[in-house]
Amino acid sequence: ISLSEPTTAPAPVWSSRFAFLAAAVGSAVGLGNIWKFPYMAGANGGGAFVILYLGMVAVIGVPILIAELTLGRRGGAAVSRCFGRITGGKGRLWNALGWLSAGTAIVILSFYSIVAGWALAYAVKSVSGSMQGLAPEDYAAHFDTLLANPGEMIFWQAVILGATASIAAGGVRGGLDRAVRWLMPLLALLLVALGVYAAALGDAGAALRFLFTPDFSALTPEAALSAAGHAFFTLSLGVGAMIAYGGYIPEHVSVPRAAAWVALFDTLCALAAGMVIFPIVFAFGLDPAAGPGLIFVTLPVAFGAMPGGAIAGGLFFTLLVIAALTSTLSLIEPMAASLANDGASRRVWTLRLTAIAGALGLVSVFSFNIWSEVRLWDAEKTLFDWLNHLTTEISLPLGGMGVAIFAGWAAPKTLLRGEFASGKAYRVWRFLIRYVAPLAVAAVFIHLVI
Ligand code: PHE
Ligand code: NA
Repeated sequence: ISLSEPTTAPAPVWSSRFAFLAAAVGSAVGLGNIWKFPYMAGANGGGAFVILYLGMVAVIGVPILIAELTLGRRGGAAVSRCFGRITGGKGRLWNALGWLSAGTAIVILSFYSIVAGWALAYAVKSVSGSMQGLAPEDYAAHFDTLLANPGEMIFWQAVILGATASIAAGGVRGGLDRAVRWLMPLLALLLVALGVYAAALGDAGAALRFLFTPDFSALTPEAALSAAGHAFFTLSLGVGAMIAYGGYIPEHVSVPRAAAWVALFDTLCALAAGMVIFPIVFAFGLDPAAGPGLIFVTLPVAFGAMPGGAIAGGLFFTLLVIAALTSTLSLIEPMAASLANDGASRRVWTLRLTAIAGALGLVSVFSFNIWSEVRLWDAEKTLFDWLNHLTTEISLPLGGMGVAIFAGWAAPKTLLRGEFASGKAYRVWRFLIRYVAPLAVAAVFIHLVI
């Protein structure tokens, strides 16, 4: 063996800056943008919530995103080792944070894939015409029938997890990179086409007023907290996803600039989703504050009565499936990168991890039907609500705070300075990551406890 011969295979790298951005934007843009953001804005009074959320993304989200991408770039995609590597072994205890994050991602995958499965079911049902011309109350009944049927939910979820596994098993270049390079342009195309459809047939003026007229009297402390929590979720922070994707960044790409692009596209997609949904909702006199059922119950009422509604509805739910799939890929990656060390073991691990997510997903599936009465401590929360709460509202902000503290206080100073072209930008980032981000998360938790 010659000394120059590498003992391990070279680490995988995205094929281009575009591929990396497509993957990172693909992770960020998901159910959070198209399903959650519109109903959260709708339930929290619209404009004021939107402004608050934008502020959180800029002040907490972007700095942590920069930190995560850099940690991956310098410490490697395996979140279970990257913290230790960056500190030259001294900070090995931080690797526990990596394991926690990667585990959280699998739990999120277990129920995220269920909602993605609903979207897939609705895409098929829309195109088949079975969602056209029903009476308004029949749409709610339709959704309830799906929720009442564990077999049907498991089937659609399995299709989503199967698609995720078969892409992820192909590795970074042959799987993720290849898939996102055509899925993301398709997603953008669908979003624009649906925006034009909604503007032509719906009440775009009412939607614009609703999303952009701030009524700060409607803003409760709870709304402020959910805006903060959602800033983490929507940028895929706190679960190792962006650390893993950062591990494959090509050398010439600027991390702060990439982070800005990801946040910008993620925000644009959330607002665009609002501009698809609300013009239609208002044109039909429906309730923008309908909550989680907004796109599965309220919106189908409108599609069911609109010209071309079967196709538009089919495209809308296809858009949702694509957005979700490019996110599930990033939910499996932190664990996959941590556990696999070659192509063969990656195939085995992606299968195992999706099987684990599917098995755990049964808890959420049953919480909508046979276990719908089961409660722990809190009379309001089903098991699905608990999993969602413990991951997206607890573990994910904690993971984000951990990253902020590690990057701001524990990591070598030179590590992040090197990512910034200007010293001024670096100092702004450092202030936000050391003080603002951890304190903001702490405020969220203090409020949760009292
Ligand atoms: N950002 C995704 C969304 O908005 C959700 C997600 C969270 C994906 C964490 C990966 C990791 O839907
Ligand atoms: Na998002």
